[in-house]
Amino acid sequence: MLKDKKILLGITGGIAAYKSVYLLREFVKRGAQVKVLMTPMARDFVGPLTLASLSHNPVFTDFFDHETGQWHSHVDLGLWADAFVIAPLTANTMAKMAYAQADNLLVTTYLSARCPVFVAPAMDLDMYCHPAVQQNLQIIRQRGVHVIEPTEGELASGLSGKGRMAEPQDIADIVESFFSKQKDLAGHKALVTAGPTYEMIDPVRFIGNFSSGKMGFAIAQELARRGAKVYLISGPTSLTVNDPNIELIPVISAREMHAQADRIFPAVDIAVLAAAVADYRPAEQAQTKIKKTGDELMIRLVKNPDIAASLGQKKRPGQLLIGFALETDNETANAMEKIRKKNFDFIVLNSLRDKGAGFGIDTNKVSFIFPDGERKDFALKPKPEVARDIVDQVVLMLKKKK
Ligand code: CTP
Repeated sequence: MLKDKKILLGITGGIAAYKSVYLLREFVKRGAQVKVLMTPMARDFVGPLTLASLSHNPVFTDFFDHETGQWHSHVDLGLWADAFVIAPLTANTMAKMAYAQADNLLVTTYLSARCPVFVAPAMDLDMYCHPAVQQNLQIIRQRGVHVIEPTEGELASGLSGKGRMAEPQDIADIVESFFSKQKDLAGHKALVTAGPTYEMIDPVRFIGNFSSGKMGFAIAQELARRGAKVYLISGPTSLTVNDPNIELIPVISAREMHAQADRIFPAVDIAVLAAAVADYRPAEQAQTKIKKTGDELMIRLVKNPDIAASLGQKKRPGQLLIGFALETDNETANAMEKIRKKNFDFIVLNSLRDKGAGFGIDTNKVSFIFPDGERKDFALKPKPEVARDIVDQVVLMLKKKK
């Protein structure tokens, strides 16, 4: 149900706009209050009278009423809404969203809205595949817009392919499930490790790795969004957090990360270890900068503590421990061995074989491997969506543990 949820329905000028009438009815049927916002082009496809009658609210298109001069505030509309759903989304409005081209009420409202935004793109298949459209889609997605992918089928052009707007019922289901999941981790506490660790060689040099921290930060964000109190222990990254439910604990080395994780672990019921911890550190850290002397320099390395294994040993019934693994070969067998050694409840496997997955980039393609050998594979997705899949799995397993 969407009882008492306030939904702003944005309609842009595409043939799929006729389906927005059904989407509006779907929202109303599920108990939502709906206000409709249209681009000027959308009015050629579907009548405001129909939409106003079904929503029991005036329909907005212009910045002001031409008869009375009454101002339609995009700020107020954005603040009113619990969710802004733009369906259909044309390539034109998508581009305006990506580049802040605020030349109509719908786009200005998008730019000032603080609520979650969902879009259901609809266009011809070749347009949808065009790199410019895909790039704009990527831009808005990375800024947190929830993209409801178009489906494959017959298109208005007579061609057949990917570009049909998702069905109204499916869009309403996605919005509804977003709200129902919203606070499903209230009362829970979670620890997340993220980023690389730096192991000092001397005061100015270190051994590190290319981890950006994006995956771990996205997981922390998703856990917090769903109501958990999150302790995010992160190695050096350029990322920041701005969420009162996330306490960022910055560390540099594996030993510091270990000390913080050991301190916090007893108080949490969820731990997700996404950090790329350096397995070794220099045996000695020089107190002054090492000068170049000979043609060779030997740095002896010693093993770092295994944070995951250490938490795995202390894990209590009721606590969930989730790890990551990056494998190049014998993926499942190696992952299973790690699950056993570190006492993970499941492992998120990144495969280096997949293009677009892994370090430093915004997308990831993962599989979950469970202690009994079960495997769940996922498509290549932006990291925030991968984080959602991981947290969905956590919630499922917490319910089973109860
Ligand atoms: N991990 C950890 N502490 C370490 C090393 C790893 O907590 N010192 C965690 C990582 O955060 C990750 C998982 O353990 O969740 C990865 O295990 P690891 O054995 O390091 O995986 P790989 O780096 O893939 O290891 P290997 O080089 O042995 O394949």
